[in-house]
Amino acid sequence: MITARANSNIAFIKYWGNLDDNLRIPANPSISMNLDGIHTTTSVRWDDRLASDKLVLNQTETTGQALERVSQHLDIIRQRAGIHTYAEVISSNNFPMGAGIASSASSFAALTVAAATAAGLTLSERELTTIARLGSGSASRSIPTGFVQWHQGTDHESSYAESITEPDHWDLRDVIAVVSHAHKEVGSRQGHTTANTSDLQAARVAGATKRLEVVKQAILNRDFATFADVVEYDSNLMHAVMMTSRPPLFYWQPATLTVMEKVRQWRQDGLEVCYTLDAGPNIHCICTAQAASTVAAELRQLDDVQDILIAKPGTGVLIIS
Ligand code: PMV
Repeated sequence: MITARANSNIAFIKYWGNLDDNLRIPANPSISMNLDGIHTTTSVRWDDRLASDKLVLNQTETTGQALERVSQHLDIIRQRAGIHTYAEVISSNNFPMGAGIASSASSFAALTVAAATAAGLTLSERELTTIARLGSGSASRSIPTGFVQWHQGTDHESSYAESITEPDHWDLRDVIAVVSHAHKEVGSRQGHTTANTSDLQAARVAGATKRLEVVKQAILNRDFATFADVVEYDSNLMHAVMMTSRPPLFYWQPATLTVMEKVRQWRQDGLEVCYTLDAGPNIHCICTAQAASTVAAELRQLDDVQDILIAKPGTGVLIIS
């Protein structure tokens, strides 16, 4: 049995929409930071005696859609390893389910590495990111360490992720303001398939590579002002596409907008903080380490904020036993 642990990640330039939904070749390249301590731990054991794959998720034996997605992913590993064996997968997240923290990135990153290693495959990090991508696009970015770029690519091999710099390069924090514990109705998997129904998607995609280069340089130069400006703009663009898709996807709650306005005000007042949002209502307040305690204290004052999680830049996936 092999156990792997992968951190979740937060995108600064977002992945939204695919050129190829099956291969998950994204409409644009993206960039993210792994979130230290917000992780999934997954053990995989291939067992000839099993008559089907088995999934234990957060201490509960799970069937249905979750098992189906895991089995489909295991099929890729089975094919690569030339085996027909079924596997037992035991997976748990250390963050509360339903806190609006996406688990697909950390889950598919950990599953890919645990299952491939347990099957005896020796794959490069780059190959592992391409396999993880087939499970969930953002999972490709949870495999390499620190700050990570997912190259768009044109086919399975060329659409991969790699680290642009180590976690300790820039002492940023993601202070996550949880404003809703509700489970989202439309997940990102389905959302990607309707991105092109928005007239705004083409404009968002057209500028994405340029924005990525600006954010990448801002990370490398530790230039917070430039970083903040583009990160917020890119998040707003993605949500504009979501809201104008058909059917529209409104992930924001009234509380989301309240916190976003506060963050912009705090930055105007001199605090190094900006916001970014994934496919949900919770606000990722990205700030420097020096600003983090003030940001957290300010967020705690707001009635709308139910919970706060804080993460620093994290490593890539690790095999822990
Ligand atoms: O990897 P997926 O299919 O869960 O999509 C992730 C989409 C966003 O979180 C909204 C953006 C991103 O780049 O992580």
